[in-house]
Amino acid sequence: MDLISQLTTSFQHLFHADPLLICSPGRVNLIGEHTDYNEGFVLPAAIDKAIYLAVSPRTDHELHFVAHDLNKTYTGSLSNLQPTNTWADYLLGVLAQFRLADYPISGLNCVFSGTIPMGSGLSSSAALENGVGFALNELYGLGLDRITLLKLSQRAENDFVGAKVGIMDMFASMMGKADHVIKLDCRSLEYTYAPLRMEGISIVLCDSRVKHSLVASEYNTRRAECEAGVRFLQTFYPDIKSLRDVTMAMLDEHLRDTEPLIYRRCAYVVQENQRLLDGVAALEANDVASFGQLMYGSHEGLSHWYEVSCTELDILVDIARHQPGVLGARMMGGGFGGCTINLVREDSLEAFTDHIIKQYKAQTGKDTYIHVCKIQDGTHVVNELVS
Ligand code: GLA
Repeated sequence: MDLISQLTTSFQHLFHADPLLICSPGRVNLIGEHTDYNEGFVLPAAIDKAIYLAVSPRTDHELHFVAHDLNKTYTGSLSNLQPTNTWADYLLGVLAQFRLADYPISGLNCVFSGTIPMGSGLSSSAALENGVGFALNELYGLGLDRITLLKLSQRAENDFVGAKVGIMDMFASMMGKADHVIKLDCRSLEYTYAPLRMEGISIVLCDSRVKHSLVASEYNTRRAECEAGVRFLQTFYPDIKSLRDVTMAMLDEHLRDTEPLIYRRCAYVVQENQRLLDGVAALEANDVASFGQLMYGSHEGLSHWYEVSCTELDILVDIARHQPGVLGARMMGGGFGGCTINLVREDSLEAFTDHIIKQYKAQTGKDTYIHVCKIQDGTHVVNELVS
């Protein structure tokens, strides 16, 4: 039985009703890392790995959730939404935001399952949050637009789950468009879709299968370091609001000698924004080779200047770099584990996969998972209902 049929059957069995089915995808980001919370640019896309939710409304205030893959349940009430420090917080956090905004909702039945590998940095949490918000909007006929929904997801993650993440993951998952990347300006939230014309080239994720415990604390530290850089520069340039307004010349003049660590963090962000703009121009000119070189540049910056990579990710990029048919590779997402993203010629894919698996094992003693992904639409209703 496929995943949707399993989910439907399990929902019908538990709740004696037919569910509404929602698909909410994970994301990749081609370039532009740690730029979202600095009001910069990102270039993400939704992928063909997703969370699937079977949902129905309730007339009372009860909440009944089933995490199908974990074989775990949560039962509670809309009148008492408190963090549990479990997976349920991604759902509860969104419900709490809907309550805060006074949207007219009552209880929820939800069974969910997914194909996004957990802890791989492909944003399964944003996908789940978006899925729940999208479900509430559909079930209770609220008429909210996608931007409102994804902002509610981000607030759920920031305020209820307690992770101070930027907007990229929710945006990509909710706004994704098949075969397109999203060029998003995280300051204004203006965005454009750029067609991904990469004939004969696959987007390949190599999962390091590690998640270092540093991830949350170092993420917050990086944010604070960037903010410190902005505050420092504001004494010379009162008009700047974020690193988006900063140039390398400003950094070189005021920070390089006095605050070398803050300088490196800020310089990485300023350069990464420029790499993204150059990358978009390269893609428009159908120059994937130049785009790939910018990906390597991004990885260098993340590893040496921003210092959010780790040995395993550096090894994966290094192995890829020396393989025929690889145009570019870099770590992706927050860092300290998760996946690398690689652009690989289809005719080299098999050799690439074999080589990465063997070499990664030889150099780290660990297994890697390889995922070839397609770019898909954002969060949406799944039409087929299997009875
Ligand atoms: C995580 C966060 C995003 C973004 C990336 C780094 O995925 O959730 O908001 O900051 O890290 O680019």
